[in-house]
Amino acid sequence: MGVKTKIVDFLDVRLGIRDLLEQNLTKYLLPRNINVWYTLGAVLLTLFALQFATGILLLIYYIPNTADAFASVQKIMNEVPFGWLIRTVHAVGANIVVLALLLHMLSVLFMASYKRPRELTWVAGFLILLLSLGMCLTGYLLPWSQLSFWATTVATESSSEIPLIGDAVVRFLRGGAMVGQPTLGRFFALHVMGFPLLFGPLVLFHLFCVRRAGVSRPPFGEDYRPSEPLPVFRHEEHPEGIPFFPNYMAKDAAVIAFFLALLFAVVFFAPGLFFPPAAFDPADPFVTPAGIKPEWYFLWAYQTLKIFPSEFLGLAVQGGMVTFLLLLPFIDRFRERRPGKRPVFVTCYALGILLFVGLSIWGHYS
Ligand code: HEM
Repeated sequence: MGVKTKIVDFLDVRLGIRDLLEQNLTKYLLPRNINVWYTLGAVLLTLFALQFATGILLLIYYIPNTADAFASVQKIMNEVPFGWLIRTVHAVGANIVVLALLLHMLSVLFMASYKRPRELTWVAGFLILLLSLGMCLTGYLLPWSQLSFWATTVATESSSEIPLIGDAVVRFLRGGAMVGQPTLGRFFALHVMGFPLLFGPLVLFHLFCVRRAGVSRPPFGEDYRPSEPLPVFRHEEHPEGIPFFPNYMAKDAAVIAFFLALLFAVVFFAPGLFFPPAAFDPADPFVTPAGIKPEWYFLWAYQTLKIFPSEFLGLAVQGGMVTFLLLLPFIDRFRERRPGKRPVFVTCYALGILLFVGLSIWGHYS
């Protein structure tokens, strides 16, 4: 008997792992017409694992105080062995994660897989998206560069437009009148502890929902019919489907490899893509650098605030859009999932994408 069989036998007697592996891998059947968009969840799991691993390594040398933060990042880039690689993968990875998150959300929107009985899967996913954006925002301050300092100053400033409590909110976010040590302290605590602690259970809950409800059948093909809403729980089975392992996992692996290739292509061939010049100077509260812009995924919000006559109106519209998306499964309650038969919502989503891209380009060049 080989060592592998012995180990499996040992675990099988104690944990019943053969049964567990069968139920979750070889006998876990997915819809026969499953498509490439369903791989994005696995892509996200991989990318987040990479963010956590590189983040923990960065913590070894990073110093969270205003006097040393910038120099500690310089040291990681220039002196620590492979520090440049770890840091660049973490910073570029954040952008690729947001890209994958948006694509995952869009696929769910167009195939309407957020509908009953998957409302909670969507809500958990959307909260994960907000949390991820929070991690990006807090992480941006940590290198304590001119870019960090001024981007955070602008981002926190916008809350001052909230009537009555605006100034108090800004003070609370910054821990003082200006961005300074208290801001760095709280952003650091949130970035490395607070947000990840919320993030872990939310992702587990999201995966639990996906596994419990069963992966939805893609709403395409001649014989597709929307299912009747059931008053009781039922796992969506796909008896004619393909096994998760090895068939679907091979597809997952291919798309994961594609995203990793994209990430490392940027890291090796265009490492400065997401680092404007202000990222290379230490923070200086007395010198405002020209042309400070938020990251590409916040440009739409930045531009919305600029075009509305009052910033408060802009904030209210943004808040409205976020609430609409969070509650979407409870607003769009039609059973139909085929994109061709849901013209109103599909047009809204397409317009939403155009608006996001248009506002972002406008924000970038204005
Ligand atoms: C850390 C971030 C996330 C991870 C790791 C993740 C992971 C996954 C995985 C593994 C699946 C099953 C396979 C698939 O359909 O891709 C899934 C499905 C799903 N996700 Fe996510 N997800 C994340 C974020 C989101 C976000 C931001 C949303 C929406 C706002 C979302 C909504 C959904 C929905 C509704 C499904 C069910 C799809 C179906 O059964 O057809 N997820 N997610």
